[in-house]
Amino acid sequence: MSMTNADMTRPPGPIVIDIENITKDYVMGEEIVRALRGVSLQIHRNEYIAVMGPSGSGKSTLMNMLGCLDTPTSGRYEFNGRNVAEMNDDELAAIRNREIGFVFQTFNLLPRSDSLRNVELPLIYAGIDPETRAERATQTLIDVGLGDRLHHKPNELSGGQRQRVAIARALVNNPSIILADEPTGNLDSKTGEELMALFENLYQRGNTIILVTHEADIARHARRTVRLRDGLIESDDFAAIRALESVAVR
Ligand SMILES: Nc1ncnc2c1ncn2[C@@H]1O[C@H](COP(=O)(O)OP(=O)(O)OP(=O)(O)O)[C@@H](O)[C@H]1O
Ligand SMILES: [Mg+2]
Repeated sequence: MSMTNADMTRPPGPIVIDIENITKDYVMGEEIVRALRGVSLQIHRNEYIAVMGPSGSGKSTLMNMLGCLDTPTSGRYEFNGRNVAEMNDDELAAIRNREIGFVFQTFNLLPRSDSLRNVELPLIYAGIDPETRAERATQTLIDVGLGDRLHHKPNELSGGQRQRVAIARALVNNPSIILADEPTGNLDSKTGEELMALFENLYQRGNTIILVTHEADIARHARRTVRLRDGLIESDDFAAIRALESVAVR
């Protein structure tokens, strides 16, 4: 008997990310690109969300906001009940370094550093001692199937392997929230499914996962799908279910 995702959905915890009416404008000389035009989203701990939508719809822009890597033009962002706009640099750094693991669409690996060094980086920021650092980075690289590529530099790796180094770097700190922008974009379908198994495991252990994908096959691993279009949320199945439930309760 096979279990569906719905059978293995864990009840979500308290709200961890609460954004209200977020906008983001990019000013390009005379032109203003309105990348986000008023997005509201509540994310609970231990949710597993797929963010979908056409190219240019604002997915990466939204992920950067959620990861506290960029600030919105307007709107409110509360992380763990605290207004992100009022946090100082140390508090923001603590969230970015400890709470959130980020997999970028473009990987953002250091080109002159080997896999091990790239994965150690967040641990350096977190002030972990060199020995523990090397141990944990090595183990995480083994977990993503790169135990035999510790000393390869990014240009000595395949696209999919680079992707996995980026994923190992996001996971090495044991972040409670994983933000992954097209994590399977460069992977063959077998490696992509292996990665999805890894994410499922993290989800079952209580982590929150938010991933951007174009692929329906990848999105079906998530328990909630948020679709963006032209900088706005076009649909959000979980929010829709909640609304129905609240009607039913009344
Ligand atoms: N740094 C920037 N400066 C100016 N415009 C930007 C910048 N980053 C993104 N944009 C614009 O904002 C819009 C949203 O971009 P974003 O990268 O969020 O899209 P996306 O949904 O992630 O697309 P894709 O699926 O292609 O990755 C696009 O029109 C893009 O050209
Ligand atoms: Mg993008």
